[in-house]
Amino acid sequence: MLRSHTCGQLRSDQIGQTVTLGGWVDKYRDHGGVVFIDLRDRYGITQVAFRMEESSDTQQLAASLRHEDVVQVTGEVVSRGPENKNPKLPTGEIEVRASQLKVLNKSKTPPFEPRGETVPNEELRLQYRYIDLRRPALQEKMVLRHRLTKIVRDYFDALGFLDVETPILGRSTPEGARDYLVPSRVHEGAFYALPQSPQLFKQILMVAGYDRYMQIARCFRDEDLRADRQPEFTQIDLEMAFVEQDDVLGVIDGLIAKLVKELQGKDISLPLPRYTHAEVMEDYGTDKPDLRFEMKIKDITDLVKESSFGVFKSTADAGGRIRGLCVKGAADKYSRRILDNDFKGIVGEYGAKGLAYFKVADGKLESSIAKFFDEEQQKAIVQRMEGEDGDLLLYVADRDKVSSPALAALRNFLGKDLELYDPREIKTAWVLEFPLVTWNEEDNRWDAEHHPFCAVHPDDVDYFETDPSKIRALSYDLVCNGYEAASGSIRIHDPATQQKVFDLLKITAEEAESRFGFLLQALRYGAPPHGGIALGLDRWVMLFAGSDNIRDVIAFPKTQKASDLMNGAPSDVDPKQLRDLHIKLDIPQ
Ligand code: AMO
Ligand code: AMP
Repeated sequence: MLRSHTCGQLRSDQIGQTVTLGGWVDKYRDHGGVVFIDLRDRYGITQVAFRMEESSDTQQLAASLRHEDVVQVTGEVVSRGPENKNPKLPTGEIEVRASQLKVLNKSKTPPFEPRGETVPNEELRLQYRYIDLRRPALQEKMVLRHRLTKIVRDYFDALGFLDVETPILGRSTPEGARDYLVPSRVHEGAFYALPQSPQLFKQILMVAGYDRYMQIARCFRDEDLRADRQPEFTQIDLEMAFVEQDDVLGVIDGLIAKLVKELQGKDISLPLPRYTHAEVMEDYGTDKPDLRFEMKIKDITDLVKESSFGVFKSTADAGGRIRGLCVKGAADKYSRRILDNDFKGIVGEYGAKGLAYFKVADGKLESSIAKFFDEEQQKAIVQRMEGEDGDLLLYVADRDKVSSPALAALRNFLGKDLELYDPREIKTAWVLEFPLVTWNEEDNRWDAEHHPFCAVHPDDVDYFETDPSKIRALSYDLVCNGYEAASGSIRIHDPATQQKVFDLLKITAEEAESRFGFLLQALRYGAPPHGGIALGLDRWVMLFAGSDNIRDVIAFPKTQKASDLMNGAPSDVDPKQLRDLHIKLDIPQ
């Protein structure tokens, strides 16, 4: 070993010992007769003192050290004395009085310092990721990710789950994003698809009798990226045979409780709360509500449809609804300009044509449009909203398709802006009974809400013929702090039901055969009832880290444009590689 201790290890117990440390030069101070170096590695910082009287050669060499040089230092651990102690550092009681110094590697002047005052812009950080990863804030997240992954593996191991790896070079899977393709050299003109998830393989493992499967699986999706999405990401993927929905939910409940306990030292009560999809859509306008704060959406259509306010009346007449939020104590928090511009802008993004607002005062409404509502209507509105004097009421009048996402976005904004929750709190709940299919207006057909293998709620089978929008799937999402943090379902395991779903989705026999024929085939050879779920590992680490950027919890993430700024991927390839694959580029100008 080139070191005897790490830079975070030494305490007053070691005073008098001769030690060797290796690390990066974090700070240097030259006080004439003595040079102080803060030596850093991922375990901490140790102060090293090079004194003229000790060794003048070493002291001179030390004076030449600069940021991020890598050095090896040998010396004696000495007390700093009460006056020079640094209570902010775990190693603050001691320093190493150096007798030997070896410069292992001189660093170029780094583009930023890992422990500098300001965090550089993300582009620079991603380009020099090896320096960025030296930042303590990022190191903490990498350690958190490691710990979380280990807890997950141990948890499933204790429950008898078997970790099975599934292929990366595969066929297109049904998650619905665009595939990343890999050309085959051996099979001219044919392509592998990188897996969007191990979905089909894990179902096949159930047919194969591996009744409790889990995998920390890398998934690839060529989709538009956001702060919580990466083109390659990691799932905690599992599947179980001979189970019902409650069994899968119970296993995940236990996992979440264990993670919260071990990572935050807190107890959460189980079972985790369960809501239906219809409930959360009504109360929060989204299938991934942030439940760290209350502020439910309320419907006042019946109270205002006879009012003289044209916007509300005409919306109600056209079959829309008037729904809104009661923001506690916020009557004077936002100016008219903010309400008319910023807030209207937030709901406008989703197509809302306006935002109506009132203050609650003396149990009645106050605003430029309050005059359109008589006293009785005003009181009824305040009551419905559970409003009190000093509250702010906000409404969008439209079809649910517009008002739900608009109010959900406004609610999220308000929760954050008014600091209605502790950003580190983990608040999880199940959303159950998603619709099996949603109508795709553009293409005039039904699309699977999750994927085409979700089992159908037994009470809803008749709706296949009458109203497919009413069919509920035996599917479930776990939401956490406003994110979809996991998603799964009980699967169809009999060919007849599967055919019914394919028919509804207008997936022809040929198409089904060519896309997932191997699964359909396997299901005919003794498929047990089964179901499973996948948790977004990166998202969970992000949530536990209290971050809102998934890139912060991935060692080498891609940008919003799916490129790696450090290694330059994706990149051109050698023309010979293309020739071997018989690929000709035809890029439109
Ligand atoms: P789904 O597509 O919902 O389900 O994915 C499961 C979970 O993975 C996370 N996730 C992502 N995280 C980061 N970046 C992405 N681009 C991304 N896409 C998804 C989310 C999501 O809840 N095979 C099914 C699971 C099943 O039915 O068992 C599946 O992949 O947290
Ligand atoms: P207008 O009659 O368009 O000037 O609108 C009067 C008020 O109603 C303004 O504050 C608008 O922002 C608001 N408003 C207009 N359309 C809607 C709508 N669809 N939902 C809620 N408020 C609206």
